[in-house]
Amino acid sequence: MDSLEKISEEVANCKKCGLCKVRLNPVVGAGSPEAKIMFVGEAPGANEDRTGVPFCGAAGGILDELLGKINIKREDVYIANILKCRPPGNRNPAKEEIKMCTPYLDRQINIIKPKVICCLGNFAASYIMEKFGLKSRIQGISRIHGSIFDYRSLFASIKIMPLYHPAAATYNINMKPVLEKDFMKLKTLLPR
Ligand code: URA
Ligand code: SF4
Repeated sequence: MDSLEKISEEVANCKKCGLCKVRLNPVVGAGSPEAKIMFVGEAPGANEDRTGVPFCGAAGGILDELLGKINIKREDVYIANILKCRPPGNRNPAKEEIKMCTPYLDRQINIIKPKVICCLGNFAASYIMEKFGLKSRIQGISRIHGSIFDYRSLFASIKIMPLYHPAAATYNINMKPVLEKDFMKLKTLLPR
């Protein structure tokens, strides 16, 4: 049976793309294996690369603040990224890297079975929406942030919500209220 531990072990030894040569630590993901909400970011930054912990830098501080506003603890959600290793200089993920790495994310989703997937930024939104048959609905994050898309199959019903990447609020103060509003909407999706 697949497990989060198994994924961690495989990622730690992964050499499927060139990022394995420049990373300090892989960042597999963190949080509750029983999470109802999963956050998917883009890729580790410098702090994450140093520590192996997702969203532990400035963007992580914003994410914690946003979660706090809707009374959700970080330990109760699961946080992962499209890429598990840091692209040098935080450049955008390359197509080939995404292709090589996302099978790990797919497995994390299969194990955790979240009810809601929050996609942080364009890369996460595009990947997750395409994966769940919503390719025709993909638009830039400034157009689709805060929208809720439904994925239904015989086996699952998942709400997919694209959001601005919290890093956006670290360089544009106007983003904070926009993110806060979208998080209030996220809260309404959750059972009380
Ligand atoms: N940005 C991301 O997309 N992911 C992290 O883990 C940290 C910053
Ligand atoms: Fe492997 Fe993903 Fe790291 Fe590339 S980014 S080496 S595919 S774990």
